[in-house]
This record gives sequence, structure tokens and C-alpha cells, in this order.
Amino acid sequence: MYYSDDLVEEVRTANDIVDVVSGYVRLTKKGSTYFGLCPFHSEKTPSFSVTPSKQMYYCFGCGAGGNAITFVMEYENLTFKEAMKLLADRAGIKLPEEEMSEEQKREAGLKAQLYEINRLAGTYYYHQMKQEHGRRAYEYFKKRELTDETIRKFGLGYSNPYSDDLYKYLKGKNYSDEVLKESGLVTISERGANDKFWNRAMFPIMDTNNRIIAFGGRVLGDGEPKYLNSPETRIFDKSRNLYGLNYAKTSRENYMLLCEGYMDVISMQQAGFTNAVASLGTAFTTQQANLLKRYTKQVVLTYDSDSAGTKAALRAIPILKSAGLSAKVLNLTPYKDPDEFIKARGTEAFRERIMNASNSFLFEIRVLSRNYNLNDPEQKTSFYQETAKKLLEFSEELERDNYTQAVSKEFDIPYESLKKLVNYYGGQAFVVQAVRDNDNAKPKEKLKNTKDEGIKKSQRLLLSWLIEEDRLYPAIKDIISAGDFTEKLYSDVAGKLFTQLETGKLNPAGILNDYINDDEEYREVAGIFNTSIDESQMSSTDFEKAVTETVRRVKKNSLDYASRNAKDIKQLQKIIGEQSKLNTLHISLQ
Ligand code: CTP
Ligand code: MN
Repeated sequence: MYYSDDLVEEVRTANDIVDVVSGYVRLTKKGSTYFGLCPFHSEKTPSFSVTPSKQMYYCFGCGAGGNAITFVMEYENLTFKEAMKLLADRAGIKLPEEEMSEEQKREAGLKAQLYEINRLAGTYYYHQMKQEHGRRAYEYFKKRELTDETIRKFGLGYSNPYSDDLYKYLKGKNYSDEVLKESGLVTISERGANDKFWNRAMFPIMDTNNRIIAFGGRVLGDGEPKYLNSPETRIFDKSRNLYGLNYAKTSRENYMLLCEGYMDVISMQQAGFTNAVASLGTAFTTQQANLLKRYTKQVVLTYDSDSAGTKAALRAIPILKSAGLSAKVLNLTPYKDPDEFIKARGTEAFRERIMNASNSFLFEIRVLSRNYNLNDPEQKTSFYQETAKKLLEFSEELERDNYTQAVSKEFDIPYESLKKLVNYYGGQAFVVQAVRDNDNAKPKEKLKNTKDEGIKKSQRLLLSWLIEEDRLYPAIKDIISAGDFTEKLYSDVAGKLFTQLETGKLNPAGILNDYINDDEEYREVAGIFNTSIDESQMSSTDFEKAVTETVRRVKKNSLDYASRNAKDIKQLQKIIGEQSKLNTLHISLQ
């Protein structure tokens, strides 16, 4: 369902941000702003702010920020549509009924049938296992130490050893061959219908709404292939699903355990680790990371300890990180997988391994070190070099330094030497980057690559002040335009804000709606509007000075940029003229 911008705004403005947040967080008023303990990270002193004039919230501790809609989205783990519904109900606004085209209706009808077919198949498999002829499967689960309760909870079952057993059953429920084919549970050719699964232990795969969307079938004992899975269908996209998440999402832990297999999830959950999910033997995807991010901020990887598992973990770490999740790696040795570990050593030992899970960066360096013979001076040097380059991943100096220390300690590398090496490569990277900036980069890319945090902060400050101080816009509108914000996103936001200010309809929380589909941008925009250097403590002359200085920096940066890209001498002269005017700039707010 697509809601018009006007409707989204109607719902949002009908729900005062202070009222909405107060339903979840205890707020105390300080001046024109409310403060409370941030619900999105754990803290002891309040850095979570709610500003009625902006109709926005922002946490100075963790950077979470947004408007009333995103607050309930984040707090209640809702989709945009669900959040709209909740807030509309809360304000007594009636949302339009869903209008579907014929095509959409057909698709929805087909999907509903596929869910129903999978549900019927799940119950069918379960009942087969419960009967005498399904005993082998039941005993197989028992041999793997699953309780009856676990078997029921995960809906485990058995597919009979006949080629079209399930097909006949579903035909009896009046499903057409057409639809049955789409379910992936049977194949139909001229030679007749064949069940996909036969004589296998069955594992239903459920989505987060507890609907069965596919199956995995395991051979009873040895045999190839060990597991057979449903093909992708209209309701099963394996890259967007995690096995066990339907249960894990309600776990109270603040982290998730990510493993490879069906049995690992089931064993862990049976042992009380109900926050276990699996990517099911396929490579972990960005979509899966984003799915996890709806429920947690931290992931403990419990992939198999063999080389395939290690490789899979190394691949998953950067995916988790770029989704904004922190990752740790659990050491299972000497066991192959969580299932074996728990069976051999029990729950408490596993819990201990979770507590001792390794930082993902140190894990990566440890794996890297295995490629080198550290007794060989030459190889040892190469290892140091690779390690130093990898440390450059951390752009924050303090963080980089902490890791440099940790690595030097663990691998017995003299700290000062490693640090020098890191700085050396850091310098090189800088030179390489600078050359690239000058030569090849297209102006647009350069714009995007503005690395200077200081100038970014000035741009953010200016945008925040424009919202907070209504005398500012008239004072600067002839000096600064949206194009002066060299950061692409800031420039976008500035354009929208300037239009609002020009028409006298200031509404920053409304601007946020435009970024709702991109988590990262959303966060950043919320941050822009909440940049502050506590100007309430400043005298008005000090504030004028600060504003003047900030405008000067923003404008100077923009002019410097323009002069580097000037096309002809006339343009350059004009820019130089403007640059010299900056020296005598004074913004008056009287
Ligand atoms: N897998 C698969 N097809 C295969 C092998 C594995 O889809 N032929 C997937 C399954 O989801 C499996 C996971 O990869 O659970 C991990 O594989 P593996 O470690 O080989 O299996 P285990 O989980 O250890 O299986 P089990 O404990 O039942 O032997
Ligand atoms: Mn296993």
C-alpha cells in the first residue's frame, strides 16, 4: 500500500512526539527539550532527547534519531506500514483500505494457496512421523537427543518412501497441478507427479510470522545429498530468510547466535539459547543482515569450526559490519558444530564460550596468521605488513590504536613498530587517495568524498541553527544556498529546508519522511538536525560570532571547491572576488 505524502504527514502531525515517546520512555523536561534514558542503547545518564519544536528525537549517545513514525518503527520493530497503522489508530485517523489490481489479487490468492499447501504438508509430515511407518524418523530425532516438545515446536516430520504420497494427499484437498507445481513440493512431467521429498526427516522452514514457507529434508543416516531443500518459490526467497528467527525474535537476549544448520539451531534452542538462527548452509547475505538488524545489534557467529565454516564466518563478518551490526566469533574447538558441542559439553560450557567469544577483528587476524610461518623472518614481516594494512580499516584513531595494542599483545609484535607500520601505510593510502582526488575523480565523486569532518560539522551546525533560530534564514539567504553544502546528502536536505523556510512552513520532521527507506541516510539526516554546541549558554554576541564563523567556513569551503573546478578565468575571477568578501563577513541577528 502506498500512502500519499499528505497522509503520512497527517498521521505524523496528529501524534505529538512527546506523547508518543512518553508511552515508552520516562522523560524529564529541561528548557525546551525533554530528556530520558535512551531505549536504543544501554546507558545510565540520559542522552536521549525529544524536541517538541522539531517533533523529533535524537540520542547524543548512539545517534538514533527520527520522528514519531520511526520511533515506533524502531521501538516496536514495525515496518513503515505497521507503524502508520499504529499511529493512525492512536490518533483516530482512518487509513484507506488496500486497493489491489486484478493482477495483485491473483498473486495474493496464489500466495495464500502456497502458504496453505505448505501448512498442510507440514502437518502431514508430522503425522506420518507419529505413525508406526514413520518410526524410523522419530527414532532418528530421538537418537539426536531431541525431546518430544522440541520435535513439536519445530514441526519436524517424515516424508513417506513413496514417489507421490504427498501429491495424492494434496490432490485430495483439491489443489490444481498448476499450483502444486508452484509450491516446489512436487514435480510434474508427462510421466506423472513426483514428490520432491521422500523417505526423509523433514524440517519445515518458517518465516517470522510462523508460516511454513519451505522444507529441508535430511536422509535418515548416511547418504547423498544429506539435505535437500525446497526450491525458491513465490513465498520462499532463501536469501531473505533465517531459520529459527520466528522464535529467536522474541528472545530477551540482546544478541543473536548465527549458525549454519537446522540441527544447530534446534540444539541450541532446546538448550535454552532461543536466540539462535541459521543461514542454512548458504552464504550469508546483506538482506539477512538487515533482517537481523530489526531485532538485534550484536551477532555471535557460531559457524562450524572446519575450514568451510571459518571461510563462511570471514565472509559474514564484513556483511554484518556494513549493516551496522557488531560481530563476535565463538570458538567451538574441538567440536565441529554447536550441536556437537552442546551434546558433548552441555549448556553451561556453551554459555561460557559465548561469554568468551572473540572480537571479530582479532578473529580475522588469527585466521590470517595461519597463512604464515611466524618462525620465518620473511613471512613474519609479511604478516606484520598485512596486519598493519588491515588495522587501517578503523578510521577512528583511538579505535585503531586500541586494536593496534590488542594485536601487538596477542602476537607479540612490538607495539611501537606496528604503530609505525600502520602510520606508514596510512600515509601511503592518503597519498594514493590525494592523487586520485586530483586526477581521476569526477567532480561529483569528489563532492561525495569530502572527508573533512570539521567542515561537515559546520554544515550540520548551520542546518540545525536554521531550524532553531528563525532570525537566521533571512540573514544568510543571500549568502548561502543549498549548493554550498558540499556533502551530497546535506545539500539535498538544505534544498528542502530552504524551500520550507522560504514559504514560511518550517517542518524538519516532514523532511525526514523522504529518507525513511534508507536506514543510513535516515540516521544521518536526523543527526544533521540535532547538531549542537549548546548555544543556549552563549551570549547573543557570542552566538553571532559563532554563526558568522560557521557561515564563513561553509562558504569558503564551497568557494574553494568551485575555484578548483573553475572552467575559465572569468569564472575564477568572480570566485576570487567572493572569497575576498568573506574576510569582512558579519552576520547580524538583530
Ligand atoms: N546443507 C544443505 N545441503 C547439503 C548440506 C548442507 O542444504 N547437502 C545445509 C543444511 O541447512 C545444513 C547446513 O547446510 O543444516 C549445514 O551443513 P552440515 O554442517 O553439513 O550439516 P549439519 O547441520 O551438521 O547436519 P547434521 O548435523 O544433520 O549432520
Ligand atoms: Mn551437525
